[in-house]
Amino acid sequence: MDLQNLGYALTQVVHNFGASAVVGGAIAALWLGPRPEPRHAIAWLVVSGWVAQIVSGATFGAISFHYYGQFPDISTVAMIALTIKVACAASGLALAFYYIIHAASRPESWRHSIWLMLAALGAIALISAAFLRWFS
Ligand code: HEM
Repeated sequence: MDLQNLGYALTQVVHNFGASAVVGGAIAALWLGPRPEPRHAIAWLVVSGWVAQIVSGATFGAISFHYYGQFPDISTVAMIALTIKVACAASGLALAFYYIIHAASRPESWRHSIWLMLAALGAIALISAAFLRWFS
């Protein structure tokens, strides 16, 4: 079995579940409405999802570097898409943590806005993933 392909495939498994967690989690929290307990649990799931995306995204780069001694030479469009994904992941992680710390003391309108932003960041990252994939 080709170890390089196995590495990419297993990394992609983590990356795909991470994407499902950040997007699905935020949508589920919006759909649940003002119910603090399940939303708090979902916020941790979303934090785990963003961490999974950052770690698995970096692992893609590490595998390429290990086998080729350099990072893939990707087009400008792909580079912009990758930059957007990294920015979404960093802000999504920070925002989800911010939610966990402050949600209990803030009004429902604030909580709703944070979940909307988290859903939007997930959606933007998913859209960017398609451009990264096909413009690489
Ligand atoms: C630090 C952040 C991230 C990095 C470094 C990163 C990096 C990558 C890389 C290198 C690939 C493989 C591209 C290829 O097949 O040519 C990939 C694929 C993918 N990424 Fe990310 N990613 C990040 C965050 C995200 C986020 C936040 C999402 C979604 C919420 C996401 C969703 C996807 C999906 C769905 C694919 C598969 C695309 C396809 O093959 O059609 N990524 N990512």
